[in-house]
Amino acid sequence: MLKEKLEKLKEKAINELTQVKDSNSFSLLEIHILGRKGELAELVKQLPTVPVKERPEVGALSNEIKRELLKCFEEKKKDFNVSNTTVSDIDITLPGIRHAKGSLHPVTWAIEELERIFTRLGFVRVRYNEVEWDYYAFEALNMPKDHPARDEWETFFLTDHEVGPLGKIVLTPHTSSGQVREMEKYSKTGEPIRMMNISKCYRRQIDISHTPMFHQFEGLVVDKDVTMTQLLGTLDYFAKEFFGSERKVRLRPYHFRFTEPSFEVDITCALCLGKGCSYCKDGWTELGGAGMVHTNVLKAGGYDAKHYSGFAFGFGVERCYLMKNNLNIGDLRQLYSNDIRFLKQF
Ligand code: PHE
Repeated sequence: MLKEKLEKLKEKAINELTQVKDSNSFSLLEIHILGRKGELAELVKQLPTVPVKERPEVGALSNEIKRELLKCFEEKKKDFNVSNTTVSDIDITLPGIRHAKGSLHPVTWAIEELERIFTRLGFVRVRYNEVEWDYYAFEALNMPKDHPARDEWETFFLTDHEVGPLGKIVLTPHTSSGQVREMEKYSKTGEPIRMMNISKCYRRQIDISHTPMFHQFEGLVVDKDVTMTQLLGTLDYFAKEFFGSERKVRLRPYHFRFTEPSFEVDITCALCLGKGCSYCKDGWTELGGAGMVHTNVLKAGGYDAKHYSGFAFGFGVERCYLMKNNLNIGDLRQLYSNDIRFLKQF
């Protein structure tokens, strides 16, 4: 009869359990008795053969026995926890498991380094949105609507119509969009500015030397009597700190609508240090743009251009990182392809 068989199984299991001496035989017994295909499960399977009248009673009994056995096994298990493991069970000569160590993305590393360098000069790190109004990206920077200079910032537009007085919405095409935003914060009280805006920028360019998302860092200084010599001194300090003390920078006349005069900034080539070689041709490689803040931009930011002046510069983070380490990675897009084998090299 099933009832007796169940009782017998319980007795046998408890008896065998008391004789178990190590965790291995405990596990085996547990599987043998309580496992999915264990002895208890086999008996429960026979329930339908019990006459209908007795079935509820036998069913209840099987449940109760299961509960009891589970409890006994739980109790016994405590005998085999780690504290009972003897030293000889552990092979202390086995090598440990080495966990893979992550590292910062090279661009994050460069951003941190840039922040450190400019903080030493008193620049305060800020960040502006990745989504911007046409006004801050262009108009306030002396580039009125339909001005051809805008073409150089191959812009992603998020709206095709003016959304309000600040115009269309765009993906921030350069960190210069932060200039007038920053000035608006301080011009009312006439406070000076030393801003370091390191942010993501977006342009409709994708090829081996461009990714549609990239980073720029932008310095902006506004104060009374800011001069071009200070701009050059700042860039020189940056170049020596970031690229190495033997490097020099030079300014080459250029044109930007938001600076006057404007420059492109060059740095001596890493390979020939300015002598000229097959890589750089004339000894210099280009870093980015700079200039004295245009009076129209100072006015847009709320500063009195008669008493205040300023300088600004904006460079690409990725570009500087590659130049610093003299890396010729062939395809800049690899930086963002998320391929751990590529990133591991840095
Ligand atoms: N915003 C310019 C660019 O993206 C760089 C620049 C910044 C030039 C500040 C002058 C002053 O090319």
